[in-house]
Amino acid sequence: MDQEKVIVIDFGGQYNQLVARRVRECNVYCEIYSYRTDLEQIKAMNPKGIILTGGPNSCYEADSPTYKKELFEMGIPVLGLCYGAQLMQHVLGGKVEKAPVREYGKTEVFVDTTSGLFSNVGEKAEKIDFPKIKLDDHESDTNKTTCWMSHFDYISKMAPGFRAVAHTADCPVAAAECVDKKLYAIQFHPEVLHTVEGSKMLYNFVRNICGCAGTWRMDSFVENTIKEIREKVGDGKVLLALSGGVDSSVAAGLISKAIGKQLICVFVDHGLLRKDEGDEVEAVFGENGQFDLNFIRVNAQDRYYGKLAGVSEPERKRKIIGEEFIRVFEEEAKKIGAVDYLAQGTIYPDVVESGLGGESAVIKSHHNVGGLPDFVDFKEIIEPLRNLFKDEVRRAGLELGIPEKLVFRQPFPGPGLGIRIIGEVTADKVRIVQDADYIYREEVDKAAAEYKKEHGVEAPWMPNQYFAALTNMRSVGVMGDERTYDYAVALRAVRTIDFMTAESAEIPFEVLQTVMSRIINEVRGVNRVFYDLTSKPPGTIEME
Ligand code: XMP
Repeated sequence: MDQEKVIVIDFGGQYNQLVARRVRECNVYCEIYSYRTDLEQIKAMNPKGIILTGGPNSCYEADSPTYKKELFEMGIPVLGLCYGAQLMQHVLGGKVEKAPVREYGKTEVFVDTTSGLFSNVGEKAEKIDFPKIKLDDHESDTNKTTCWMSHFDYISKMAPGFRAVAHTADCPVAAAECVDKKLYAIQFHPEVLHTVEGSKMLYNFVRNICGCAGTWRMDSFVENTIKEIREKVGDGKVLLALSGGVDSSVAAGLISKAIGKQLICVFVDHGLLRKDEGDEVEAVFGENGQFDLNFIRVNAQDRYYGKLAGVSEPERKRKIIGEEFIRVFEEEAKKIGAVDYLAQGTIYPDVVESGLGGESAVIKSHHNVGGLPDFVDFKEIIEPLRNLFKDEVRRAGLELGIPEKLVFRQPFPGPGLGIRIIGEVTADKVRIVQDADYIYREEVDKAAAEYKKEHGVEAPWMPNQYFAALTNMRSVGVMGDERTYDYAVALRAVRTIDFMTAESAEIPFEVLQTVMSRIINEVRGVNRVFYDLTSKPPGTIEME
């Protein structure tokens, strides 16, 4: 890609992807590479700037991650963050030691002198329009700003040629610079939101110091990618498994704009989707939708219910659902015959988490359509979203005209409602959970919209994922004058950033009451509604 680029060198910090996302928010393209990446390889990428991330080690210890001194001598601007800042000082002849006081959390930083990095930062800042940055009105005379600190080592002596530009109560060098060599070091984390003006500091670095023009925009990404796909595929055929999720939908939109009917999308409706979801996907991508492509919908509900009959063990259910998907897809692929390309909706976090970029441990394999390549007859895989973060995928989706409802869809597990129905899955239980879930989402969305309209901000309880599940419990109730013996629905709503840990969301009680009464009145077969208060851990977000 012929694109101005900043390289993020990853030293194992937990915020590495966040650094890259913040840079991209400045309309600058960036990629993450491990500190093990060879200097020649980095040079060959011709970066406009380099950012060194934080990391858990002490740079003065023998086995700690490090980098060659030459990195700082190429004339390319380098910004070190936390561990990266310490490493820069250490390698260039400064001194890093265990700090007398460990700093952790929100901390006031005093900016002592003017510096390009802190241009328009702090209480003396002039009001200017930075993207996504809001400046409050300040009357105070001191120039300070709030940042997020997390370190036990500190820079006790700066390397020759550097000057300190900021300090905190416990840290004499909170930021340092050597303008002549374009080297900058920040002890805190500008990438996390707790550093109130962190985005502005990163903007100052990539746009002003590195001189990036800010050409990374989703409209040009969409336009360029369509061109690239068209050139690459020529008159070949592309096959894509469309799940209805955000990533595969955006991939389908992009490829169809490039090559039209040469794209064949197979959409397997396994009968475990949310209410009306299959039809919604068909409305967008099917014959009467807005995209020009070959859309094959396989209605495999009965097949799935047949396979799942009598099975209640969660892992077994997951396995059956996964295997059946491969089988259905295989049958379709056989009908289609050989294709030139298999397309996948892999996105950048998949790439980084599979250990292909950065320093993160291998969390999952990046083939998000596991197993498909084994039997589909194709020459090459294409992954048009491989360089995008999720929010960028969403913006690309909007550029392509994919409806907001689909673009902002909340995460939905591959095995679908199969793991939201505890115990055996039947068509009737699917109907119950679909209807209850629909009511729940409708009421939560309505209450959230009302809150936003009234207060001008998102509701503090707004969950990141919320759904209804069906417990396998039946209990006695009374409705009208009749005794009932029906199922209990469990409502789940969590607030989370990374989906690895989560808290139960404090949905207002009156909203829950409305949901409860609507579900009991409108969904046949339910006579009790529970709200799940469990956090993760010890619970998981899904029920199975
Ligand atoms: P858990 O239940 O593990 O869920 O706390 C964490 C997040 O992952 C989603 N999830 C899945 N996604 N296939 C998927 O594609 C799966 O088998 C699967 N299981 C859980 C879940 O919805 C939540 O967002």
